[in-house]
Amino acid sequence: MGTITHLSGIDGADEGTRGTVVNHRMRQVTELVAADGTWNEGLVGEVRDLFDSLAPDWTATRDHPRRNLPVLDALERGGVSRGGVDGRTVLELGAGTCISARDLAGRFDTFVAADLSWGMLSNAVDGAPPLVCADGSSLPLVDGVLDVLILQNMFLFAAEVDRCLAADGALVWVNSRGPETPIHLSTGAVVDALESATGVGWDAVDSTVGEATWAVVRRA
Ligand SMILES: C[S@@+](CC[C@H](N)C(=O)[O-])C[C@H]1O[C@@H](n2cnc3c(N)ncnc32)[C@H](O)[C@@H]1O
Repeated sequence: MGTITHLSGIDGADEGTRGTVVNHRMRQVTELVAADGTWNEGLVGEVRDLFDSLAPDWTATRDHPRRNLPVLDALERGGVSRGGVDGRTVLELGAGTCISARDLAGRFDTFVAADLSWGMLSNAVDGAPPLVCADGSSLPLVDGVLDVLILQNMFLFAAEVDRCLAADGALVWVNSRGPETPIHLSTGAVVDALESATGVGWDAVDSTVGEATWAVVRRA
């Protein structure tokens, strides 16, 4: 139903190879969640335990000077930025240790980060925005409050994205290692999941920054 516009890619933000995604459990969970919103107590516990265990080393093993180029490029070339102010109310969901805060804090009127894993949030970088420990399948937000929702290497809860995004809101979807990211969906799969959950069309613009992929998705 919607249209996807592909922009040419720009040079890099490579994170290098870190394991393989073949049959990666988090890829399986990503596809289950996107397909029909499958999510239950067992998955909550499994995912929370995994990321709690990874939290102490997360920043040291992921942060590098070019790590945030893809999300910044998505904001700029994806058309989210407006005169230097990228949006009034912005949530980064599944923010982990908030590596992006270095480049995102201060850009928005209101910027909050949320994550299921308290381990991740308790290891947040200096300068992180206000933190909320919450499950992205059921956010403590009123309908339509978000101008921008940022999901970097995070599951897509399509119905909740639709509920929380303002009518003209934008979803910013980033995979830091492109298809090699365990929690990855192609732009087409993101659009399909949103359209199937909402019954309306969604348009996307996407591109690459080195090995990273990004998409900015809005209701058509
Ligand atoms: C692969 S990490 C990415 C962290 C960060 N966005 C980054 O790119 O560095 C996925 C994050 O999503 C969080 N997460 C997974 N399921 C979630 C849910 N249902 N609600 C909120 N956060 C969730 C995990 O705890 C973890 O911190």
